Amino acid sequence: MREHWGSKVGFVLAALGSAIGLGTLWKFPYVVGDNGGGVFLLFYTFFTLTLGIPLFIGELIIGRRTQRGAVGSFASLAGQSSPWRVVGWFGVLSAFFILSYYCIVAGWGLNYLMLSLNQFYEIRSSAQIASTFGRLYEAGDVSLFWGTIFLLLTFGVVYQGIRKGIEQWSRILMVLLLLLLVALCIYSFTLSGFSEALQFLFRFKWRELQYSGILQALGLSLFTLSLAQGVIITYGSYLPPNSDLPKAALIVGIAVVLISFLTVLVIYPVVFTFHLPINEGAGLIFETMPVLFASLPGAMVLSVLFFTLFVFAALTSSIALLEVVVANLIDLYGLSRPKAAIFSSVALFFVSIPCALAGSGALFKEWLPMYGVNFFGTLDALVSNWLLPLGALLTSLFLGWRLPSCLVREEFKRGSIFGKIYGGWIFLIRWIVPMAILLVFIYESKIYSFDK
Ligand code: TRP
Repeated sequence: MREHWGSKVGFVLAALGSAIGLGTLWKFPYVVGDNGGGVFLLFYTFFTLTLGIPLFIGELIIGRRTQRGAVGSFASLAGQSSPWRVVGWFGVLSAFFILSYYCIVAGWGLNYLMLSLNQFYEIRSSAQIASTFGRLYEAGDVSLFWGTIFLLLTFGVVYQGIRKGIEQWSRILMVLLLLLLVALCIYSFTLSGFSEALQFLFRFKWRELQYSGILQALGLSLFTLSLAQGVIITYGSYLPPNSDLPKAALIVGIAVVLISFLTVLVIYPVVFTFHLPINEGAGLIFETMPVLFASLPGAMVLSVLFFTLFVFAALTSSIALLEVVVANLIDLYGLSRPKAAIFSSVALFFVSIPCALAGSGALFKEWLPMYGVNFFGTLDALVSNWLLPLGALLTSLFLGWRLPSCLVREEFKRGSIFGKIYGGWIFLIRWIVPMAILLVFIYESKIYSFDK
């Protein structure tokens, strides 16, 4: 018998643990800033509700039905040699690329943990505190050092097999993180920049919308829900047959949106109060949070706590990401777990080197001028803007058109109080999800121009 989750709460928390990570805490805030605030938030929420959550349900259906992992589940539904297996492979590839820069960003978190212990923000101005990140970004060796430590942590957990301990820990720590965010949000509310931040976040200036922001909103929505990578399929395969899939997906999806909003509500008031630059890109969270902490009593305790939770949130996601790669190597090539874990971690280390050195320009100097983004950004864009949407597109086509609809209907309705919305859901999966993704692709690739 395949092992199953101990409880429904356990499953929801595990799915949340994989979802809440650097996507929510680090990427979401700066992408919102880069794309002008309100309109982007609107698109992100819209995509999560209409594409993300339906796909989440779909992946759970595939997983619970087949009781297999990513590549295996497509194979068992479509046939051993079916081309649909490629969809599983896309997921493995995306997970690998994501991890290579994920480690570096999480490593920055470790570095800030260290800095907090040293109380680096004492007797410095907010501008000086914020500029610390620039230093770090340009110090490739330091980035690589911390990134490698984080990679080793991830490796250590995955090497030992699945995560009884981690599961328990992530429950406690995710709740702590949430409480801390709420507390900080209440504090941010008292800052003088709060209303300015609200205006920035909730006023819709359509004219400021860059259309590429739409593709980013789509990619980010898939990224934060950990979709199109086989993780949710795998998690679904550990679900008992009578669990309510639509309900679980709704809870996770809405929780992710709420926590994302909470994060920006903590960060942007600080940005406006201390006059930090708005579109600061990748460093945003590392620049604003220490400034916020420095202005609070008990700065050291708070910032140590925050960055500990930050690293932990990243770890609960990175473990799942590495597990995607490792599990498939084990399944498909018969490698032992230790071998698969060592092999993929070593490969990851090498790919993470150019990511770590991206800011310093020590490696691939011509990358940025040539592609317009550095190596790091190229990987992120490749995955978030192309691989994930493509994987999501194929998954929705598979669910909507390839699988027998009686099978899909049965799985959707089994044990669910949302059985009545099946019609709406399958319509979304069949038509809206694929068309929306296609439209975004067409727009992005400039095959056809929608501009007047
Ligand atoms: N959702 C995670 C985050 O927001 C990152 C992520 C993307 C992920 N794909 C995943 C985590 C697959 C686990 C598995 O940070």
